[in-house]
Amino acid sequence: MHSVTLFALAAPLAALALPSGSLLTRQELQSINELFVAKGKEYFGTCSDQNLLSNQQNAAIIQTAFGAVTPENSMKWDQIQPTQGQFNWDGPDFLMDWAETNGKIVRGHTLVWHSQLAGWVNSVTDPAALTEVIQTHIAEVMGRYKGRIYHWDVVNEMWNEDGTMRDSVFSQVLGEDFVRIAFEAARAADPDAKLYINDYNLDTADSPKTQAMINNVNKWVEAGVPIDGIGTQAHLTGGMGSGVAGAVAALAGANVAEVAITELDIAGAAAEDYVAAVDACVQEPKCVGVSVWGVRDTDSWRADTSPLLFDDSYQPKDAYTQLIASLS
Ligand code: G3I
Repeated sequence: MHSVTLFALAAPLAALALPSGSLLTRQELQSINELFVAKGKEYFGTCSDQNLLSNQQNAAIIQTAFGAVTPENSMKWDQIQPTQGQFNWDGPDFLMDWAETNGKIVRGHTLVWHSQLAGWVNSVTDPAALTEVIQTHIAEVMGRYKGRIYHWDVVNEMWNEDGTMRDSVFSQVLGEDFVRIAFEAARAADPDAKLYINDYNLDTADSPKTQAMINNVNKWVEAGVPIDGIGTQAHLTGGMGSGVAGAVAALAGANVAEVAITELDIAGAAAEDYVAAVDACVQEPKCVGVSVWGVRDTDSWRADTSPLLFDDSYQPKDAYTQLIASLS
C-alpha cells in the first residue's frame, strides 16, 4: 500500500517537469544571505547575468540563498557602450528587472576599468575630450538605473602590484585626476548609490598595492573626492582565507565609511578558507557585505580550480554547509 501511495505522490511532481534537482534545492537549501544579515550585515551576494539567470536551476539557488547580484559582464564598458553613443541596455535591464522581481540588491560593476574597455575609448587623446567621455558614460549608465543600484564599482583595478598607478588610457591622458572626475560624475548621477573603488590582490595588509590603495584613498577623500567604500575582490588561492581578516581590517582603517568583499572565490574551495574569509567581514564593523563570483564551479571564470560554493550539479559543497553552520 505504501509504495502505491508514494507512486501516486511522485507522479504529479514529475508531471510538473521541473529541472531535475531544483525542487530539492529549493526545499533544502538554507539562505546564507539570511544568516549573514542576521549578523548585522547588509547582503551576501553573487554575480550573474541574463544567460545564467535564465537557467532555472541556477536562478533557484540565487533566489533562495543570496541577497544581492552583481552583473558579471553586462555593465562593462565594451558591452554597454561598444560604440560611442550607442548603448546596449538589454542585458543590464534583464538583470535589474530580475533583481527587483526577486527582491535582490544590485551592485553595479563597473564604470572606469582599463580591461573590457570599448576600443574607441583608447583612441581618445585629448584630456577635455576624455573627461567628457567618462562623464557621459557615467551619467548615461548610472542615470538609467538611478535610485535602483545600491553600490557602484566606479573605478576598478587601477593599481599595479608595486603600488604604482596602472598604465591605461585614463592614467595616460588624465593622470590620477581621472579618479576625481569619475567619482564626481558618479555622485552627480546617483546621489543615493554608495561609490566604491575596487581591486584585486588586496589580500595582504602590508603589500605595496594595499598600502597604495589606503594612502591614496585617504588623500582623495581628504581632498573631497566622494569615495564611500573600498572593495576587495578576494580571488584567492587555497590557504589564503586566514589572511583576509588582517587585509579587511587594514582597508577598513582607511578614511572610508565602509568596505566590502566583492568577488570572492577560492581555488579548491576549502571550507576553512571560506569560513575564515566570510568571518573576516562579520568581525569588521565597516564591512557591509560579501559577494562570491558565481554560483556553480562550471560557470566560474576559473572553473579549473573549482573555487565556488556549488558543484557542477548545483549541489552545495562542503564550504557552503560549513558557512551555514558557522553563521547559524
Ligand atoms: O560577450 C562575448 C561574446 O560575444 C563572445 O562570443 C565570447 C567569445 O569568447 O566572448 C564573450 O565575452 C566574454 C565575456 O566574459 C562574457 O562572457 C569574454 O570573452 C570573457 O573574457 C569575459 O570574461 C569575464 C572577465 O571578467 C573579463 O571581463 C568573466 O566572465 C568575468 O567573470 C570576469 O570578472 C572579473 C571582474 O569583472 C573584475 N575582477 C576580476 C574578475 C575575474 O577576471
